[in-house]
Amino acid sequence: MPEATYHFPKGFLWGTATAAHQMEGQNINNNWAEWENQPGRIVEGQKAGLAADWWGGRWQEDLQRAYDSGQNAHRLSIEWSRIQPEADRWDDKALQVYVEMVRWLVNHKMTPLVTLHHFTDPLWLVETGGWENGATPALFEKFVRHVIPALKDYVNLWVTINEPNVYIMSGWVGGPFPPGKNNLGLAAKVVVNMIKGHAFAYKAIHELQPEAQVGIAINYRSLKAARSWFLLDHIPTKIQNQLYNNSFTDTLVDGKLNLVFKKVNIPEAAHTQDFIGVNYYSRDLVKFNLFNPGEMFGSRFYPKDAPLSATGFIADVPEGMFDALKWAHRYNIPIIVTENGVEDNKDILRPRYTIEHLHQIWRAVNFNWRIKGYFHWSLVDNFEWERGWTQRFGLWGLDVETQKRIRRPSVDLYEAICKENGISSEIVERFAPEIREKLFPGI
Ligand code: BGC
Repeated sequence: MPEATYHFPKGFLWGTATAAHQMEGQNINNNWAEWENQPGRIVEGQKAGLAADWWGGRWQEDLQRAYDSGQNAHRLSIEWSRIQPEADRWDDKALQVYVEMVRWLVNHKMTPLVTLHHFTDPLWLVETGGWENGATPALFEKFVRHVIPALKDYVNLWVTINEPNVYIMSGWVGGPFPPGKNNLGLAAKVVVNMIKGHAFAYKAIHELQPEAQVGIAINYRSLKAARSWFLLDHIPTKIQNQLYNNSFTDTLVDGKLNLVFKKVNIPEAAHTQDFIGVNYYSRDLVKFNLFNPGEMFGSRFYPKDAPLSATGFIADVPEGMFDALKWAHRYNIPIIVTENGVEDNKDILRPRYTIEHLHQIWRAVNFNWRIKGYFHWSLVDNFEWERGWTQRFGLWGLDVETQKRIRRPSVDLYEAICKENGISSEIVERFAPEIREKLFPGI
């Protein structure tokens, strides 16, 4: 009997999150496949290649791993370019593979959460301008209308678009994603089109499956003024917060998009979220910087005292998870943590990172905020976009050459948490003794 336990509510969803392009391999018909073939785009010229070989059938052994280690839910995404390889061609055999995946989950009493757009676009769509094109929201709806009837007997939870804020910042504001542009005007256009795409999909899903729960997953960054006493640090912090964290989901409440320097009415987007998906990884401090107009005159950096992940990509700031949930709570709809995790090939920081972030979720749950589940990113190491294979987010490691899975200690940690439906002092003692006193003071 553990001495003390932070319990989670009955029926809490415990899962891991994955995405098609990062896991499946052999995706050759989308914009990322093309991007990976361009020199200089991906670290060390790496490619997704076979990825974790889910398209070769290894999805089943990995989901079995998730099931065997006590998880009761799983988040995966559907690759649009497989289902609709050309504008006027559908591949229902490919769709059937996803049906098998979600059926497998349901047969194992695991709740599937399915994402309909996770960063990748079919090549034929990109050739017509992709999300810059005002015709794309309707095309996305068409794709969604093709998918829902096939999966709706198994899936009730849908994320229309994963992290539109990351997709847009990384693709149109000088970032590392395709199409690699740096054009704020086009970025604003893409925001509007993605919001419309979400709204059209939301309505289509409800028409085809009235009981469905539909949301988006936003990448929430906890942004704080570096010097709380210095007014000029607060201005870029506020603007970045509005643009990055608020603008998309606020529009799903009232149909009014506020991009600070530009306001757009998108009435069809009002009342189009049943739950909110929160992806939280880290916090940034923001310091006024007159010479950085691109980031609204603010420079962002990690708090000095925060432990960093293996390549320095993520700072471990668990309190930011609480900020993220507090922010999500203002929408007064159910909240699902759709991603959280850390790149850590040696699994040194992950146990502590996971426990402390879950502890913050537990705090929020006890404020009666409507948090329904947690999806750790990720189940197995997978292709980390422009960072290729240099970052490892999996509970299980992956030897990309041999496809061998490597069981990290965090597998056992997460299994213990899922099975306990909570974090006990014993679990902390076993997996991250360095934070036992912090989490259970005096016990
Ligand atoms: C994305 C994932 C990605 C993860 C870690 C999130 O922004 O949704 O696809 O792998 O971050 O980088």
